[in-house]
Amino acid sequence: MNVFGIDIGGSGIKGAPVDTTSGELLTERVRIKTPQPATPEAIVATAVEVVGQAGWHGPVGCGFPAVVKDGVVQTAANIDKAAIGFDLRGALQRELEASVSVVNDADAAGLAEMRWGAGRDHDGVVLMLTLGTGIGTSLFVGGRLVPNTELGHIEIRGEDAEHRASDTARKRDDLGWKEYAKRLDEYLNRIEDLLWPDLIVIGGGISKKSEKFLPHLTARTKAVPAEMHNDAGIAGAALAGTPEREAVKTAE
Ligand code: BGC
Repeated sequence: MNVFGIDIGGSGIKGAPVDTTSGELLTERVRIKTPQPATPEAIVATAVEVVGQAGWHGPVGCGFPAVVKDGVVQTAANIDKAAIGFDLRGALQRELEASVSVVNDADAAGLAEMRWGAGRDHDGVVLMLTLGTGIGTSLFVGGRLVPNTELGHIEIRGEDAEHRASDTARKRDDLGWKEYAKRLDEYLNRIEDLLWPDLIVIGGGISKKSEKFLPHLTARTKAVPAEMHNDAGIAGAALAGTPEREAVKTAE
C-alpha cells in the first residue's frame, strides 16, 4: 500500500509517497520551509502545498512535533502555542479530501525504525530518541508503540532535559562532542533508571554523526544509531496511516 508521509518540523515541512511494505520513498521528497509565524492554519496550507506539488491523491500520514491524540494537538513545547487544541487531522482531511492520520513526530520515526531500521526484530523494551530542536521519544514494548511519551521533558539539574541535551542545546552552548556526550549520558542514565529499556535507538539529524558521541557514552543499555536517518519521519508517518502499523510486531 502506498501512503503519502508528511514530516512537519520547525524549519521544514517534507513529504513523499511511501511504499509502506518496504519503507522506501517512491519519489524525491518535496520540502517547503515552515511558514513563520507557524500558526496551525499556515502549517496546514503548507502541508497541502507539499502534497499538491508531489501530485498526490490518496491516503496521508502526518508526523507533528507535539502530543497528538485523536488527531488533535495537545501540547506545544517547541511550536506556536496556537496549535494546542487544534484538530490537525480534521483540517488536513477537509483540505485534502483524503483519509489522514496524525501522530507525534518521534512516534513516527520510531515506527519506521522498528519496522525497517535499527529496532527491527526487537521484541523487548525499545526507546527511540530523536535529538533535534527538542528531544522526542518513542517507546516500544514487544514491538507495540506506547504513544505520546514525552521523556524529553524529564527534569535534569532543574532544567527541561531537551534544553540541555538536544542538538540545538549542543549548538547553542557550543559544546564539543565529548562535552555533549556527557550531557547526553546524564540524561540517558536517568532514563535508564526509570525505564530499564533493552535497547536505545538514537535518531534525529545528529545520528549521522553518532561515531562522535556514542563511544563516549557510559550507559548500561545498548545504544545504537538510527538507520533510516532523514527518511524515518516521512516513512513512519506513512506507516502510521496504514493497518500495517499493527504489523510492526511481526516485522521480518
Ligand atoms: C515535543 C515532542 C516532540 C519533540 C521532537 C518536544 O519538545 O514535546 O512532542 O516529539 O519535541 O520534535
